[in-house]
Amino acid sequence: MTTATHGSGSASAAAHKAKGTFSSHFGRPRGVVGRFVGWFMASRNPARGDWGLELLDVGPEDNVLEIGFGPGVFLEKAAARTSGHVAGVDHSDVMVAQAKRRNKATIAEGRMRVVQGDASSLPFPDAHFDRVLSINSYHHWHDPAAAMNEIARVLKPGGAVVIVEQAMAKDATDEASRAIGRDVVERMNLAGFSNVETRERPMPQRLAVGVIGRR
Ligand SMILES: C[S@@+](CC[C@H](N)C(=O)[O-])C[C@H]1O[C@@H](n2cnc3c(N)ncnc32)[C@H](O)[C@@H]1O
Repeated sequence: MTTATHGSGSASAAAHKAKGTFSSHFGRPRGVVGRFVGWFMASRNPARGDWGLELLDVGPEDNVLEIGFGPGVFLEKAAARTSGHVAGVDHSDVMVAQAKRRNKATIAEGRMRVVQGDASSLPFPDAHFDRVLSINSYHHWHDPAAAMNEIARVLKPGGAVVIVEQAMAKDATDEASRAIGRDVVERMNLAGFSNVETRERPMPQRLAVGVIGRR
């Protein structure tokens, strides 16, 4: 296993050090402040997540998993693109509650499952999903190598994962987003994904990077 000296490794460590600060709620929204953060994320410009869904290229019957869904806006949008099953996993109880509220009709239909859990131990069987999406969650993952192996495990052969990242520090540059993207590419290659490709999309604050890997 290689050790990342940039991107998610250092970003993740920083996120853990910052526990208790306002910005740490973006890595794991908690309590009343976490509820506000969820509302804030849901009300933000959806361009980054919409681009992620575009890259995901969901087929009409695909089963889709989103990791780190936050308030559940993109679970809802993913469900509108397929008649298959949509599942989400997020380690924040507050985000699970908000996403369940937002998607209650689809959950009641039996077409969506929203669960509290960790990216590094996905509570789903092998080869279950056609598509896996994650938007600005990867840099918070405490064990990105284990998470990437889990994504490979739950994807069907021929399935695809899309990870979109945009560096969020106030003074972050386009290069900071690219550095996280390079880290994602390295992790996908180590987990055995093929045809790993990086795309870039200018966004109002700074560049977003999307990495696509195929199983
Ligand atoms: C910055 S928010 C992004 C939310 C949403 N994807 C969006 O773009 O609006 C990051 C989300 O990832 C979740 N998260 C972070 N680390 C996680 C992990 N190891 N396993 C599961 N969820 C995680 C957080 O709880 C949070 O909801």
